[in-house]
Amino acid sequence: MGKDVIIACDFSNAEQALAFLDKFTGRKPFVKIGMELFYSAGPEIVKQIKARGHKIFLDLKLHDIPNTVKKAMHVLSDLDVDICNLHAAGTTAMMEAALEGLTRADGTRPLLIAVTQLTSTDQQAMERDLLIEKPIDQVVMHYAQTAKNAGLDGIVCSPLEAGKVHSLCGADFLTVTPGVRFADGEKGDQKRVMTPAQAKEIGSDYIVVGRPITAAADPVEAYMRCVNEFCD
Ligand code: C5P
Repeated sequence: MGKDVIIACDFSNAEQALAFLDKFTGRKPFVKIGMELFYSAGPEIVKQIKARGHKIFLDLKLHDIPNTVKKAMHVLSDLDVDICNLHAAGTTAMMEAALEGLTRADGTRPLLIAVTQLTSTDQQAMERDLLIEKPIDQVVMHYAQTAKNAGLDGIVCSPLEAGKVHSLCGADFLTVTPGVRFADGEKGDQKRVMTPAQAKEIGSDYIVVGRPITAAADPVEAYMRCVNEFCD
């Protein structure tokens, strides 16, 4: 898959999500469905959005014992999504089980990427609550390497980390990066941000963009601005 812009469809119900996607009459955006929309609208919303011709990143961040994750991934694979994810903190055994569960009888499967340390976790919380005392950058890179060794396709990371992840894990290891803002836009609660053009420059494979598109006066124009900066 080439570089693409993924819109974070962070809506609380199916009606809002579908009304938002109705605006896109030309190029069909790659869509991220997260916990809020999935828990509110269920697997049906995934099928509906897929049937409209969108690619889907199902962002449910699984983390449980290997057998449970394997079975859950099997169900998600049947939904015919394009990318799924899990927490690398579930360890190698869980990641390998997830890959097994995702792989269909014909050998195909959705891409599987890992969340490393959440960007909401800082050094202090990691040391105090998780008893992990290494520098957080080193922890993120270690999780990326562990995910790569388990056979995963990439990680979710800050665009600021994408270059380093590629040097460590290879150019083919996907970096999917939220925290993207237009140069003249609001940052909101994102602290370390990059523009789509900077994310392209540093080597992100996919940018995940939510509010700069969903809250724009003209979402299609904002989406196309991302596409023009990032993909071309
Ligand atoms: O609206 P905004 O562009 O900030 O949306 C970014 C999306 O990426 C949200 O769905 C958010 O949950 C997700 N995300 C993030 N940072 C991470 C992981 C996921 O912003 N580290």
